[in-house]
Amino acid sequence: MKSLSRSFIMGLTLLAAPFASAASDGLKIEHLGINNTLVRVIGDGNYLLLPIQESNVDTPVKIIINGKVVDQFNARMAKSKVDYLVPVDLTPYKGEKINLLIQTNQDRSSIREVRDDACWQDITLSDTFDSTNREAYRPLFHHTPQWGWMNDPNGMFYKDGVWHLFYQHNPYGSKWNNMTWSHSTTSDLINWEPQGVAIAPDGLGMIFSGSCVVDTENTAGFGKDAVIAIYTSAADTQQQSMAYSTDGGKTFTVYESNPILTQDTEARDPNMFWYAPAGKWILTLAHALDREMQIFSSPDLKNWTLESAFGKGLGAQDGVWECPDLFQLPVDGTDKSKWVLICNINPGGPFGGSATQYFIGDFDGKTFTPDTDASGKVPTKWMDYGKDNYANVSWSDAPEGRRTIIGWMSNWQYAAEVPTTQFRSANTLPREMELFTAPDGQIYLASVPSPEVLALRDKAIVNDKNASVGAGGETFKLPATNDGVCEITMKVSPKSDKPVTLTLANSKKEEVVMVYDPSAHTFSFDRTRSGLTDFSRDFPAVTVAPTLSSDRDITLRIFIDRSSIEVFGNGGRFCQTNLVFPTEPYSSLKISSNGGAKITDLSIYSLKIK
Ligand code: FRU
Repeated sequence: MKSLSRSFIMGLTLLAAPFASAASDGLKIEHLGINNTLVRVIGDGNYLLLPIQESNVDTPVKIIINGKVVDQFNARMAKSKVDYLVPVDLTPYKGEKINLLIQTNQDRSSIREVRDDACWQDITLSDTFDSTNREAYRPLFHHTPQWGWMNDPNGMFYKDGVWHLFYQHNPYGSKWNNMTWSHSTTSDLINWEPQGVAIAPDGLGMIFSGSCVVDTENTAGFGKDAVIAIYTSAADTQQQSMAYSTDGGKTFTVYESNPILTQDTEARDPNMFWYAPAGKWILTLAHALDREMQIFSSPDLKNWTLESAFGKGLGAQDGVWECPDLFQLPVDGTDKSKWVLICNINPGGPFGGSATQYFIGDFDGKTFTPDTDASGKVPTKWMDYGKDNYANVSWSDAPEGRRTIIGWMSNWQYAAEVPTTQFRSANTLPREMELFTAPDGQIYLASVPSPEVLALRDKAIVNDKNASVGAGGETFKLPATNDGVCEITMKVSPKSDKPVTLTLANSKKEEVVMVYDPSAHTFSFDRTRSGLTDFSRDFPAVTVAPTLSSDRDITLRIFIDRSSIEVFGNGGRFCQTNLVFPTEPYSSLKISSNGGAKITDLSIYSLKIK
């Protein structure tokens, strides 16, 4: 009876308006053909909420005002089910007649099929978009986009007490596309405030990764202290473009004479800094497919001269080179210094997929010369031995000479498949870079959690515990507040050369097993039974870091934030960043060792944000 009356009503609708869908208030939906649907905004509203189905193909959406296409992007318009909604901001077009042409380019045989798509039932005109955090895997204290896909951190600069972070963002879905620079700010590196879109795709293409500097001497002519962004315009080719901000990074104007730097083959992710000894700007650029970094110089940020290229045949070469960064740091806290060239690579990381390699060497304003090891070879070094720390670049003008870095906490192997919905991907904790000399005589980068991170500590659930553990182990409870979000610190002193095992577990028998092996000087992280792992065959993994120390004792600082675990050993001299998706929070930490171990200064803190 019910279905009869429904088809009767549908029949009536068909007769009344053969090519229209029953739309939500304020919208008129006209199916112009099998592939083309026009959405007319006839009511008032700040946002048009588009229903997205992730498994669907990307559909071009054009916003048309007075017959002109004023914006366009791709969205996976829902066909058979709605995974989530994304907002199209209509406020720039207030007072205009707004039409959207949506080209659902799927195989159809009749308009009737198009009309039945889930998106036309749920598309909504609204004054608000609910971006509140509801997902179990949304971190508490790591930066995330409010909604949509995020990859690389971009254009970070510090000015007047504010840390600015831009990021590769898809505002129209939780998979990669429509690359846009969106903006967040923080005054304490912990509490982030979303600032919306900074630079949106334009006629030259999507806005790929790049960097910002504060032009204190007005070398570019946009005014003293203008913030200058240089990024990659990515369409059929990759070219470097400029945008500038005269309001401290709130809004950007795209430079009228873009592109400012062109290349014959793929080149991207420009990263700039002021090189004081020669009084000029230096820009490093990933010559991606050639697997090298090019170094340019400029007096005014607009005219660039190629000085040299570094890297052909050196280091890891199994993937494209991306997102460079070049900076100078003191070694072992002395006044001796070295240069660090960061060369992110994808794939070809130590455990598959993307990872951050770096070279230590010297830089004379034109050329980077890498250090060699005892055998005369240029060694390959990795910043992080977990699977989920990529596209690391640093803030320019960080205070007190700090070199503060942040990474994208995912891996290109499975970033688009991780089991989150409203958002995809977080950044790592911010980290301070330091250089130290390891027992092999080589200089390495240490990654130390930024000092601001200490402010997260709330209650110490366990404190100053002196434990002696054996084969049976000792078990400690993790905090229940904030879904088990916590920091664990300890010193591990093995009594023999036998390994010490740290196991995080929940009542579902999901576990992360970390093993410190004092004879091999390695620390491993096994997430093969950590919870949800089968969304990608590349996700279950055991990652292993060399401790780069000849001591038997190690110190550990471990941060758990719902879907990530970051391990910092020996004050950041080794580290591992790995995602995990337990189906309930880990509730215990067990420490055991067949050879016995002393555990001192063990603290487990619940963490909170303001
Ligand atoms: C690195 C990267 C960059 C590029 C950006 C595009 O993850 O591939 O080389 O600019 O992502 O989103």
